[in-house]
Formats: sequence, structure tokens, C-alpha cells
Amino acid sequence: MSHILVTGGAGFIGSNFVHHVLDNTVHHVTVLDKLTYAANTASLEGLPASRFTLVQGDIADADLVDDLVAGHDAVVHYAAESHNDNSLDDPRPFLESNVIGTYTLLEAARRHGTRFHHISTDEVYGDLALDDPNRFTESTAYNPSSPYSSTKAASDLLVRAWVRSFGVDATISNCSNNYGPYQHVEKFIPRQITNVLTGVRPKLYGAGANVRDWIHADDHSSAVLTILEHGRIGETYLIGADGEMNNREVVEMILGQLGQPTDAYDLVTDRVGHDLRYAIDSTKLRSELSWEPRYTNFAEGLAATIAWYQSNRDWWEPQKDAAEARYAAQGR
Ligand code: NAD
Ligand code: TYD
Repeated sequence: MSHILVTGGAGFIGSNFVHHVLDNTVHHVTVLDKLTYAANTASLEGLPASRFTLVQGDIADADLVDDLVAGHDAVVHYAAESHNDNSLDDPRPFLESNVIGTYTLLEAARRHGTRFHHISTDEVYGDLALDDPNRFTESTAYNPSSPYSSTKAASDLLVRAWVRSFGVDATISNCSNNYGPYQHVEKFIPRQITNVLTGVRPKLYGAGANVRDWIHADDHSSAVLTILEHGRIGETYLIGADGEMNNREVVEMILGQLGQPTDAYDLVTDRVGHDLRYAIDSTKLRSELSWEPRYTNFAEGLAATIAWYQSNRDWWEPQKDAAEARYAAQGR
């Protein structure tokens, strides 16, 4: 494997993976990205021009996708509309990018016999009760709640069908909530950090009791590269780092680390259909492929993330007003 096509590589997690591959392997990377509101090409600055190319385009553009897939040894597919709140306002782009886009890529991978790794989310499994002793595993039944998670579930099922019916060499990973530098300010942790940095109180949906299973984006990238290189074709691997926290605890930690009173947040209107709890059991990935996360201390990872947002205002300030205008229209 030497030429990898990374879709959605100008987004939060895709750009992290591009840096990870260029830093740790000899592979060449082409990014295919539509450069939607969620992209930021500044996340790709400083990469070696001899091993990196950026192509602006849509994964649902069959001719473009066919040309690009034909010239690559593997596709790692991150591109998606990724934000639940936006999917509740306007589901259509989620169907177009997440379902039709994935279908378009799979057809090209099928025609050209190209290795395919599909990036997905634990949200395809729906949610867990707060006191449920079980966590999601690879055999948990799909039960998505939102337009976002249902389109990701649909895309996973397309990949499975293309493996079984057409012999595409694909693997799938479903990861828990990522945090770290370069995450769009619409997402929970960067929104609260940048709220505090701009003198606005953090906003917690509902009572703040919802639990997410946090993993650093660097750990997600190392897991994906491990699966790409050593995963068994046709298999699904769950990626998680045992990072369960409720949203109120996270906000209190952000406020505390920024020197604010830990109760200086507002409770706002809850998200409709809001999943209560996600939790990943990543035993299969750890035991079969010997992967381990590096970030096992959330408070330290969060402190480094806060420091990054403090010293990289040029990266996020241009997106902040538009993101907050979308929230204001939703009453949040
Ligand atoms: P993001 O919104 O930051 O980035 C998505 C990128 O995809 C953007 O650069 C955007 O321009 C691009 N894109 C969107 N539609 C496109 C299209 N039709 N054609 C080409 N490019 C397109 O998202 P993210 O948080 O980096 O998530 C990346 C992937 O990881 C998604 O598939 C998401 O479902 C998955 N995932 C995310 C998380 C998380 O916590 N953020 C967790 C698990 C899985
Ligand atoms: P989010 O980052 O949107 O990720 P996801 O919906 O994919 O889990 O939200 C993470 C959690 O934080 C989720 O429970 C919703 C909650 N949340 C808030 O409480 N306040 C906010 O301002 C945002 C954006 C999210």
C-alpha cells in the first residue's frame, strides 16, 4: 500500500489521520474533500508537498471518484455530514453525503479492486441506560436515533453488503466521541472552551446528565491505521478508550481549568431524541490487533486541547459567529 485516498481529510478527524499517516509511514496521501462549512484547510498546513495532494470535490461525484479511486491503493473514508443538531434541522445533506457518497465510493472500490476502510460511529447502536452494565460491542444490534446516526448506520450496512455481494476488501470501524485540537466549534467540547474564551457561559443540553465515551483524535487515528494495515477483511472493529463522562462533569472541568467558577454554565433546551449514553467495549481491537490508546488521562488531554484553542484563535474565530447563529436559531 502506498497511495491512500482520504475522504473528508480537511475535517477534524480526517486531517488528524492525514498528519498521522505522513508522520508515521512512507505512504502518499490524497485528500478528497468538498470543503463544506466543517472543513478547514488550515488543518492541513505544513504537510510535505511531495507526499500530499488536496482535491476539492464531492464524494457523490461518480466521475471524479472513479478517477481518484483508480489511482490509489486504498481509500479511508471519513467524509460525512457529522453533526447531529444540523441533521435535525435539515437531513437532506446527510443522505446525500453519508449514503449516496458512500455508495459512490463503494462502487468505485468494487470496479478497481481497491482496499476500503469505512469510518463510522458508535451512534449507530442507539443509546444505553445510565446504569446498564453492558457496553456496545461489534455484535450490538443497530438502533440509530437521529438523521445523522441513521445515515451512518445505512452507510455501514452498504459497506457490509458490498463486502458480501461484491467481494470489496473493506473493513469498518465505529468510534466513540473524539476530542482534541482542530475540532469544529459547533461540537460540544470546542463550543464550551471557545464560549468561555469569548466571555459566554457554556450551554448544557437538558440536565447535562448525558454520557459520552471520550477518546483523543490521535488515538482514533492510530487505531484506524492499525486496522487498515492489519485488520481482517469484512470485519468491524469498535474503537474506544474507556473515557465515559457526563456532560456536566466535562463542562465543570473546562470551567475549572480556565479558572472560572465550576457552576458558571447555563442549562438550555434539550436536543430532541437526545441519546442518553454511549459506551464502547474495544476488547476485539485491543486483543486481536494489540492496539492501545495513548491518552488515558482525560483531564490532561483536555488541558492540552484548551491550550491549543487559547493559542490558535485564528483557526477557530472565523467559524464561531456562524456556528453560534445556527444555535441561536435552534434556541440553544
Ligand atoms: P467533520 O465535520 O469535522 O469533517 C467532515 C469533513 O467531510 C469536512 O472536511 C467536510 O468538508 C467533508 N465532507 C462532507 N461532505 C462531503 C462530501 N459530500 N464530499 C467530500 N467531502 C465531504 O467531521 P469529523 O468529526 O472529522 O468526522 C469524520 C468522520 O468520523 C465522519 O464519518 C464521522 O461520522 C466519523 N466519526 C466522528 C466522531 C466524532 O466524535 N467527531 C466519532 C466517530 C466517528
Ligand atoms: P456533540 O459534540 O454534538 O456530539 P454527539 O451528539 O455526536 O455526541 O455533543 C456531545 C454531547 O454534548 C451530547 O450529549 C450533546 C451535548 N451538548 C451540550 O450539552 N451542549 C452543547 O452546546 C452541545 C453542542 C452538545
